[in-house]
Amino acid sequence: MNNDIERVLYSREDIHQVAQKLGQELTAEYADKNPLIICVLKGAVLFTTDIIREMDVYADLDFINLSSYGNETISSGEVQLTKDLDDDVEGRDVLVIEDIIDTGRTLKFMVDLLKRRNVKSVKVCTLLDKPAGRLVDIKADYIGFEVPNEFVVGYGLDYAERYRNLPYVGILKPAIYEHK
Ligand code: XMP
Ligand code: MG
Repeated sequence: MNNDIERVLYSREDIHQVAQKLGQELTAEYADKNPLIICVLKGAVLFTTDIIREMDVYADLDFINLSSYGNETISSGEVQLTKDLDDDVEGRDVLVIEDIIDTGRTLKFMVDLLKRRNVKSVKVCTLLDKPAGRLVDIKADYIGFEVPNEFVVGYGLDYAERYRNLPYVGILKPAIYEHK
């Protein structure tokens, strides 16, 4: 699996450090708010477990799954809700944790959904931001790293459901998706 990676962008240690820094900021932000933390499946699972352990606040945790990618490296453009939240979000201070914001479509879909359900506030924390991919005008409030306009995998992010368990974020060798 490691042989399929062209270049490591962020090591486990880099990610741990950024999670500590963001966790401190989020602790200050949510100290008195009892937030509902929403982990966006499946990609944000690893980062969520890092972030929440750095937050010294009372918080609830829920999961949502949206899909737009299929098994391709280019977004299909259509976002679908494939697993809804269990909790009622009305009146809650919500913190969404994402793996990557690329076109921004997934995040826009989710933020609109949460607003329709009358959340009190919604903020977004993402491990990775790929500003060069943006097609929809939306920003995260907390960002781990800005990535170049390449398809990245690892630390939760997949290509065709593989590589999620790599303990770092890296660029996949193009040969992997060109010669399928
Ligand atoms: P959008 O384009 O809606 O994308 O902002 C958000 C979701 O698409 C997936 N995504 C990626 N997954 N490497 C991946 O493994 C990438 O470079 C990449 N870009 C987007 C991801 O699931 C994200 O939540
Ligand atoms: Mg995702």
